[in-house]
Amino acid sequence: MSEDELIIVANRLPVEAVTGPTGEVTWKVSPGGLVAAVEPSLKGRQGVWIGWNGHYETPGESTLPPIPETADNRDYRIAEVPLKRQDVELYYDGFSNSALWPLYHDAIATPIYHRNEFDAYRRANMLFAQAAARAAAPGATVWVHDYQLQLVPAMLRSLRPDLRIGFFLHIPFPAPDLFLQLPWRRAIVLGILGADLVGFQTTGGARNFLAVTERLLGWPAKSNIVEVPGAHGGRRESKVGAFAVSVDVDRLDRLARSPETANRAQQLRKDLGSPRTILLGVDRLDYTKGIDVRLRAYTELLEEKRLDPAETVLVQVATPSRENVDEYQRIRDDVELIVGHANGSLGRIGAPAIHYVRDSLPIEELMALYQAADIMLVTPLRDGMNLVAKEYVASRINDDGALVLSEFTGAAREMPQSWLVNPYDMDGVKEAIVAAANAGHDEKRRRMRAMRAHLLKHDVQRWAAEFIDQLTTTTET
Ligand code: F6P
Repeated sequence: MSEDELIIVANRLPVEAVTGPTGEVTWKVSPGGLVAAVEPSLKGRQGVWIGWNGHYETPGESTLPPIPETADNRDYRIAEVPLKRQDVELYYDGFSNSALWPLYHDAIATPIYHRNEFDAYRRANMLFAQAAARAAAPGATVWVHDYQLQLVPAMLRSLRPDLRIGFFLHIPFPAPDLFLQLPWRRAIVLGILGADLVGFQTTGGARNFLAVTERLLGWPAKSNIVEVPGAHGGRRESKVGAFAVSVDVDRLDRLARSPETANRAQQLRKDLGSPRTILLGVDRLDYTKGIDVRLRAYTELLEEKRLDPAETVLVQVATPSRENVDEYQRIRDDVELIVGHANGSLGRIGAPAIHYVRDSLPIEELMALYQAADIMLVTPLRDGMNLVAKEYVASRINDDGALVLSEFTGAAREMPQSWLVNPYDMDGVKEAIVAAANAGHDEKRRRMRAMRAHLLKHDVQRWAAEFIDQLTTTTET
């Protein structure tokens, strides 16, 4: 392995094991924005992706078949971090998704702190750091991703001080007063500061992190650079910045322009009863995404006849996620109750008010859905970025369509021409949906053009290149 090669360390591998009804295992692309964003940075480049295979391994169980080496023209290698069922329950379901995830999303659900779960988080982070230390050539660049691995940068630095280490947080970094609840707040901040370059989705996230660094450690930043005490009484620098993650615009554009996508979009419209207006939501089934908000807003609009049920349908695609965590079972129940209520009271035989798909759909099918949709509803209560909003904009090659977007997403900073909404304000969400539904062709075109112009210049390749360039120059001696 040469110095130019890149090592990605992320909780999940880009593929995950899915066990079918008869016990057969297949490998599917992992859900979520991280894989979609990071994969293109490795395409055509040699490197290693270190992560967990998404499987809850139990002792005595037969091991999984190997991950196909060459699937989707992968040039890089995959190194699995073996995690036992109990590790995953404590580290992933527990500390990552029952403490950090809700805390970092403004405590929308109550974070639950258990000492044994943090211990498991520390142990799991050490396994990832050791795997990276084994895989990296002298002086190599290692890019660590997301909230599940915040201790890895410092652990890896102590194992391999020769490496260039970057860290990127894909989710929001919360306001200092919230973060300071965390019993292990110092350990987390010190863990992240093991990186030479620390990236956040927004300048607000970077600012919050610098504020807690100063408050907890007494290390003020100068021009976004924190001086960190290093080995043998020396000092090193950790640079903090904002890098808005994006989508692979070229690939999506190619898909959007393909005749298959256009045909499929047409077919979908027909299958949905050729209504005047199709509204669409696409999300991981997560309580931060505000799926319930938009379904309630839509149902009320139908009940009040401000949208015509004979002329309007809503499609909600919800990808199952973190199903062992209680809050995720609760949001699934809530969403399914709303869908059942809406269809029972407003739908007709053969014409439900809401088409609900609980599945993970391939990008080709999503692009056709995006093209079929007149209005895209993206209403998270809090979201680091939200790549679905960007995918929708990338799909609108004719500059049409309308995006209703929560103010509390990172994407809102880049797409102020969308219909911005406060998802806590139900009337405001309803107004925005009606305004988007009634907007004239010229207005929609003006808004979509501006969003597309920004997106075309800020694709995921640019995001990765800017991060890696800064990481390389920051650590040059
Ligand atoms: O982007 C946030 C994130 O948690 C990623 O870290 C992850 O890859 C994705 O969402 C999906 O979550 P999970 O891996 O828990 O299914």
